[in-house]
Amino acid sequence: MSFIRYKKNNLFVENVSVKRLLSKFNTPFYLYSESGIIKNYNLFSNNFKKSKPLICFSVKANSNIQILKVLKKIGSGADVVSGGELLRVIKSGIKPNKIVFSGVGKTEEEIRLAIKNNILLINVESENEALLINKIAGKLKKKIAIGIRLNPDINAPTHKKISTGKAEDKFGLSKTNLISFCLNSKKLKNLRLNAISVHIGSQILSENPFKKTLKVLEEIIKKTKINFKFVDLGGGFGITYKKKERKINLKNYSNLVEKFRKKHNCNIIFEPGRAIVGDTAILVSKVQYLKKGSNKTFAILNAGMNDFMRVALYDAVHNIMPVVKNSKKNKGPLEFVGPICETTCKFIKYNKYQKLNQSDYVAISDVGAYGASLSSNYNTKPLIAEVIINKSKSRVIRKKQDIKSLINQ
Ligand code: LLP
Repeated sequence: MSFIRYKKNNLFVENVSVKRLLSKFNTPFYLYSESGIIKNYNLFSNNFKKSKPLICFSVKANSNIQILKVLKKIGSGADVVSGGELLRVIKSGIKPNKIVFSGVGKTEEEIRLAIKNNILLINVESENEALLINKIAGKLKKKIAIGIRLNPDINAPTHKKISTGKAEDKFGLSKTNLISFCLNSKKLKNLRLNAISVHIGSQILSENPFKKTLKVLEEIIKKTKINFKFVDLGGGFGITYKKKERKINLKNYSNLVEKFRKKHNCNIIFEPGRAIVGDTAILVSKVQYLKKGSNKTFAILNAGMNDFMRVALYDAVHNIMPVVKNSKKNKGPLEFVGPICETTCKFIKYNKYQKLNQSDYVAISDVGAYGASLSSNYNTKPLIAEVIINKSKSRVIRKKQDIKSLINQ
């Protein structure tokens, strides 16, 4: 992440020193790099250039409207999973013909909203959902473009809580059910089966499960003889949170995707989330207290699991960087924890760390995806501010939530 780096021991985001920002903004706050987001999007897009896919940024990864506006400007569409996300995307200016809507539990209200906004595809996840969409479309006298989501029963090596493509997972239709749905889909007069979609999980670091998925799709297309206008290959592309992790090699996969696209004469859709925003943000926080434990020191931050859930929820590893580096060593192991009254409100433990003092500032790394969007008001803590850097300029893209508005609800 060249947009977040040290210059002479000071942590910078683009051209701005984080230390300098501390006089402007109260910690904790999310701090993004706009160039980082643009760079990642273009990198992803260039990788699949030959296939000219529609890239629908997965809004659940980061739903800040200003970030959606940045992505809109460079051509991104959006993958949404709720009426709320759909409204945010529309507000950001992303056009409905670039929006796809997934999710196993869409409500009538959400379906009506999607239909009224003429979005590109509603990606259906069950036969009963299709029946409901057909009924609502009939009442609204419309013919609706849908995609049908496949559960390919593929085990993608990732954390068990973020795998979505195995038979035991709630997402999509099994191969057999999907084939029979396709063969009977003509009966649903108000629907147009325009797409097949699939998403096998998140934070996947190997190309193999994606390749296997293409094979299953081949098989289905052969059996149903349907010429789908769109094939939505989902998201799931991992990033390297740990130093030793291997980066996913998309070149080989992109060649296979292009072969597939040509053979089936379809348009490709991708729904990346993490790969676009994951490494583009840090969470700046203060060491509120240092406390000696029996065999380690606790650095108690003013950011907690309510602000950033990934560690508590998935045992995720996020490094914590000092805002100003020094060359002294801390005595003994150091564990960064948060203020929330839960044992799982902790971030990372280091056996060796630089000398840390109370009131020092640190930055939790790689928090751009599923950071702010997963945050909550647990322990009645207000949602924290989000700030974005563009070269030498900073601007607030979400104000810290007003505590009064929170307690007056
Ligand atoms: N499309 C669908 C249908 C999805 O369910 C997801 C993510 C994506 C696209 C985007 O996946 P990505 O490219 O970001 O991997 N909160 C978890 C991740 C949950 C992912 C849920 N679905 C985390 O923090 O790791």
